[in-house]
Amino acid sequence: MKVLCIETSCDETAVSILEFNEVGGKTEAKILSNVIRSQIELHKEYGGVYPSLAKREHAKNLPPIFIENLKAAKLYSTILTNYRMPEDKKKIVEKMLERESEMADEIFKIAEVIEKPDIDYIAVTTGPGLEPALWVGINFAKALHLMWNIPVVPVNHMEGHILSTLIDSNNKETQTINLDGVKFPALALLISGGHTELVLIKNWLEYQKIGATKDDAIGEAFDKVARLLGLPYPGGPKVSELARSGVKRPDIKLPRPMIDSPNYDFSFSGIKTSVLYLTQRLGELDDQTKKDIAREFEEAVTEVLVKKTRDAIDEFGIETLIIGGGVSANTFIKSEMQKLVTENFPNTAILFPDQHLSTDNSIMIGIAGYFQIMSGKKIPPFETVKANSNWSL
Ligand code: KG4
Ligand code: ZN
Repeated sequence: MKVLCIETSCDETAVSILEFNEVGGKTEAKILSNVIRSQIELHKEYGGVYPSLAKREHAKNLPPIFIENLKAAKLYSTILTNYRMPEDKKKIVEKMLERESEMADEIFKIAEVIEKPDIDYIAVTTGPGLEPALWVGINFAKALHLMWNIPVVPVNHMEGHILSTLIDSNNKETQTINLDGVKFPALALLISGGHTELVLIKNWLEYQKIGATKDDAIGEAFDKVARLLGLPYPGGPKVSELARSGVKRPDIKLPRPMIDSPNYDFSFSGIKTSVLYLTQRLGELDDQTKKDIAREFEEAVTEVLVKKTRDAIDEFGIETLIIGGGVSANTFIKSEMQKLVTENFPNTAILFPDQHLSTDNSIMIGIAGYFQIMSGKKIPPFETVKANSNWSL
């Protein structure tokens, strides 16, 4: 089964084509093509993602990236006959893409020159994320549906982050999706630029959110602290790099927000304010001081994550801990989580995404789409597929 995967929920335009095969009781996912176009450089000057700019870039990039994928996957063949998209369908696409008329024109060109590719499903992120950005991917998927009658499978971005950890790969072309690696109940700690949540997973595709951030997401806190330290967006990886050579200092102390609250919720906006006060008190920051602040910040937020995760593993008798989302690329958080499990819960398995799948990508969207397809749940009629910017698991 071949699945076209589309992700446009934030600042990456990501498209891939995956081929799934069930081989000897295992699911294999072959990556036929994979392209990610990052908009980070464009958003840098705003210090964060600027939604209308993200939308415009997605609309500009999607058609060429799609064609790039078809070519890489060897699914690109040109039509000899002079095909035109039927007028009634063309009208729907025109209306749908009223405000992305250039993308609509590109789609009509595709319809005229490219033969329907051998693709069985289109998996597209429909939420959570930036609504205008999500719509671009969704409308592109719908236009392809109208053109070629390929079913559109809506995918939850966070489910993608969870399932991305099942891939057993070393960057090989064929990846195995390791279902045996998960025993239930499982717990997902989702840490990204938009989310910080703990999700209890009683069985495949059965999610129950047990806690979440009350304000900023952890990635957002990393990015804001980076800004206070004079580092460019997205600052998470930079803060983490600085933290590595930071040292503990009695005059650099930050709170561990909500660490003792009797629930699984988080709060990260206060700590960013504490960093602001700290920088104001310390005056001109030399390089070593920046490193020391980064270290204390990373330690503070990690302690909170570890404490809440530990409590949840205890309370729910968790057999598998899954850590997903962009911030799961953080090596300190990774090693502390590994330590938590090794020292306290030796029977609990722990899963992280491969480094190249930890931040946003479309491969995880394809895997989540495949799970939806295989679950036997009905695929909703394409007219009902819409952006759901706050879609919660
Ligand atoms: O999952 P993701 O790519 O996008 C969202 O869905 O939000 O996560 C992006 C976030 C950004 O805030 C970025 O600064 C953070 O992940 N991030 C990191 C690291 N790598 C990415 N934060 C801390 N340490 C890292 N190594
Ligand atoms: Zn994400």
